[in-house]
Amino acid sequence: MSEVFKNYIDGKWLPAQAGQVIENRNPANRNDLVGLFPASDQGDVDTAVAAAKKAFASWRLVPAPKRGELLYRVGELLKTHKEEIARIMTREMGKVLKETRGDVQEGIDTAFYVAGEGRRLFGETTPSELPDKFAMSVRAPVGVCALITPWNFPMAIPTWKMFPALICGNTVVLKPAEDTPYTAVKLFEILQRAGVPPGVVNLVQGRGEEVGVALVRHPDVHLVSFTGSAVVGREVAAACGQSLKRVALELGGKNAQIVMEDADLGLAVEGALWGAFGTTGQRCTATSRLILHHDIKTEFIDRLVARIEKIKIGDGLDESVEIGPLINQAARDKVQSYMEIGRREGARVLIGGSAYDIGACANGFFFEPTILDRVTPNMRVAQEEIFGPVLSVIEVPDFDAAIAVLNGTRYGLSSSIYTADVNRAFRAMRDIEAGITYINGPTIGAEVHLPFGGVKDTGNGHREAGTTVYDIFSEWKSIYVDYSGRLQKAQIDNAE
Ligand code: UN1
Repeated sequence: MSEVFKNYIDGKWLPAQAGQVIENRNPANRNDLVGLFPASDQGDVDTAVAAAKKAFASWRLVPAPKRGELLYRVGELLKTHKEEIARIMTREMGKVLKETRGDVQEGIDTAFYVAGEGRRLFGETTPSELPDKFAMSVRAPVGVCALITPWNFPMAIPTWKMFPALICGNTVVLKPAEDTPYTAVKLFEILQRAGVPPGVVNLVQGRGEEVGVALVRHPDVHLVSFTGSAVVGREVAAACGQSLKRVALELGGKNAQIVMEDADLGLAVEGALWGAFGTTGQRCTATSRLILHHDIKTEFIDRLVARIEKIKIGDGLDESVEIGPLINQAARDKVQSYMEIGRREGARVLIGGSAYDIGACANGFFFEPTILDRVTPNMRVAQEEIFGPVLSVIEVPDFDAAIAVLNGTRYGLSSSIYTADVNRAFRAMRDIEAGITYINGPTIGAEVHLPFGGVKDTGNGHREAGTTVYDIFSEWKSIYVDYSGRLQKAQIDNAE
C-alpha cells in the first residue's frame, strides 16, 4: 500500500474534500510510486482561502521581529532535515542529490535572510513641506497570497515566495506543482512544528486547471505569485487583470553564454556544462544557447564534447551520477520533438539527441546531453524554451554580434559572458537585456539576497529575492501627521 498524503489547511491535515488523489511517481523509475496526493478542487481552495483570510486578521498584527523568530526556527528545522528532504526531492523530481541539497539550502538561506528582515522592513521618513507636520511611509501587508510554484525547485521557489510574504504580515495558500507534492508536505510539517499559527500557511495540492484556476479567480485572494511557463503566465495575468489582483510572474528564459576569443576556455567549458546540463537543463536560468566567437569555436566544441562523453546519466540518488531524468513523459516528448524541429531547420546534432534508456535507465525519462551545432539566431531551437539538456551553438564574428544575438529573443532572465577584457565585460553588463548577468560564470547560481527575475517576456517587472521581493509582498502606505492644530493645505499654503 502506498502512503496517502493530505492538504494542510487551518492547521489540520485534510484529504481533498472530493476524495480524489494523484499518483506521484519517481521520474528515474516510474515503477517507484512515491505516494498518493490530494487532487483538490474549488471546495478545498475555498476552505484554505477562508482560513487564510481569518488568520490574516491576527497575523498582520504580530510584530515583524516575532514573525522573524518563527522563520529562524523554520530555518533551523530545514537544516536538521536537509538530507532527508533532499532525498525525497531527488526521488520525486529526479535531479541529483548534490543539487537537491542545494535546493534545500536555498530555502535555509532564505529563511535566515528573511527572518533578519523582521528587524528591518524599513520605511522612509522625509520632511513635510508644511510646518509642524510629520511625513513617513511604511510597509503594510497585502492580505491573502496565492503562491503557485513549479517542480524544478520544489523547496527554493516556494520558500523564496512564502517567507517574504509571511514576514510582511500576509497569509498564504501554496499550490505546489503536482510533480513535487512531497517536498511541499515536508516543508509544511516543518512550518507546523515551528509553531506557525493555524491558517497562516495553507497547502492545497492538485492540478493547475483546478486548484490554480480557483486560486487565481478567488475574490478573497489579493495577490498571486506565479512561477512557470510564459503561456500559463499570460493566462494568470489576464485573470488577475480582470479582478485587478496584484500579480508577480517569473516565466521562461532562453539564456545564453557568450565565449569570446580571449576567454579562459577551460573555465568556460566547465561553465557551459554546468549551466546547460545541471538540473538536466530544467532551470529557468539554464544555458540553452552558447554563443561562440568564430576563432575559438572549433576548439571549444571539441573540448565540450570530450567532457560530455564522460558525463554519467542515471538515478540522482547515486552520488556518482551527474545528470538525472527529465520530469515526466511530456517533458521528454517535448525535448525529443525539438531534435526534429532543429534538424528540419538545418541544425546538426553533434552529440546526444536521443532518449537514454540503457540498463536501469529504461524505466525513467532520461535524455542524453545534447549539442545542436550550426544553429542560427532565429531558428526555433534558438528562440523557444526547450527545458531540457539541449545546448544550441551559434557562431558569431565579434563582440557586437554576440551581444545582438544574446539580446535577440523575447526572454531576458539570465546571461553570461566569458572574456578577459574588462572593457568588454563592462559593456556587456550595460548592454545585455536580462535581469541577471554573470561575468566569467555560468547562467545559473543566483544567490537569495540579490534580486531575481527578468525583463521582456520573462516576467511582468517584479523581482523576487533580494530586498526587492518586499515590494511584491507589501503595499506602501504614506502617512502624514499634522501637529500644527490648523488646517494646512499642501501645494497651496506654501506657494509664493
Ligand atoms: C530556476 O531556474 O527556476 O540561479 C530557479 C539558479 C537557482 C535558482 C533557479 N539559484 O539557478
